Amino acid sequence: MSMAGTTISAAQVQAAVEAAGLAPSIHNSQPWKWRLRGDTLELSADLSRALPVVDPDHRQLLVSCGAALLNGWLSLRAAGLDVEVGELPDGPDLGTGRLATLEVLGYRPPTEDETRLASAITERHTDRRPFGPGAVPADKIRELRQAAEAEGCWLSVLTGEDARVELAVLLARADWFEHHDPDYLAELAAWTRTGPDAVDGITWATADAGGKPQYAEFPLRDFTGGAGAASAGSAAGPAHDERVERPEALVLGTDADGPADRLRAGRALGRVLLAATSAGVATSPLGQAVDIEATRALVRAATGGAGHAQMILRAGYPDRSVAPMAPTKRRPVSEVLEQVSMT
Ligand SMILES: Cc1cc2nc3c(=O)[nH]c(=O)nc-3n(C[C@H](O)[C@H](O)[C@H](O)COP(=O)(O)O)c2cc1C
Repeated sequence: MSMAGTTISAAQVQAAVEAAGLAPSIHNSQPWKWRLRGDTLELSADLSRALPVVDPDHRQLLVSCGAALLNGWLSLRAAGLDVEVGELPDGPDLGTGRLATLEVLGYRPPTEDETRLASAITERHTDRRPFGPGAVPADKIRELRQAAEAEGCWLSVLTGEDARVELAVLLARADWFEHHDPDYLAELAAWTRTGPDAVDGITWATADAGGKPQYAEFPLRDFTGGAGAASAGSAAGPAHDERVERPEALVLGTDADGPADRLRAGRALGRVLLAATSAGVATSPLGQAVDIEATRALVRAATGGAGHAQMILRAGYPDRSVAPMAPTKRRPVSEVLEQVSMT
């Protein structure tokens, strides 16, 4: 039962904003800002960190912010706080309105699931290492699907040959367009960081994906801007070639495609990735096919034509002979949190 009148502590605020910051975001752009007002944490979009070329309508910005919202909420829940989530309380204008509020109402013990997912927040990383041959068991896939459904979204597994071939073609098609687009390449370069102290953006180590050649059915996004990382876009070898990675391909989608749906897709993405982490399954987005609206519509067709594809994920078990990449860094809480006095 809830006890009214609780005030969130400074440590809980710090922990929640820090957890939120660990969420995945497009190009590690971290396009969010938080404000504490009384017992409420308010999330807004930071449009100065938007990516106008790869994400002209802010869809992926909203997905990123949704993942941050999930982490912030989980952190508060794991601390035993009862939290009410408000979505787009000021309407759909991202420039002026808040995306969401997390209002602490009192105490409520976390569920087992919430505790487990919260503890995966610091362990979750995008894993672009080549995957080994092991398939993800059906019960784990079911868990991932349930994680998406818990946030009002769906997760479709591309199993049929036709659908997988279609996805491979769409990813290659998107790569082709993006690498012939000077604006895309300039934006990617602007978010690529070479120094070890970068607190945002894509680091060179990320772009290199462990430096091991990857033979894969599905090409990963090429963060080198076409400079030729061996990992990106390598064609699949012959069908019997054991080096060819055949990951699970998961499409996360929503029934409608408004701002609230995209925000929800981010929560679902965050939850699916944390569920995968806690189940020992590695994941990385295959995002290029949903950058471009025309390709995104074709992904929708490949998944049976229902709803709207919001993200594509590859899932599997990494090749342990390749060292994990260094975790990406984040901006400090002081940079993303504003405190408003309630006098
Ligand atoms: C909306 C969205 C799109 C993304 N697209 C891609 C992608 O196409 N390819 C990729 O390898 N990673 C993609 N990522 C992963 C980000 O690059 C990653 O989350 C970020 O660099 C932070 O690293 P981390 O996930 O290891 O914490 C995407 C993440 C989000 C939230």
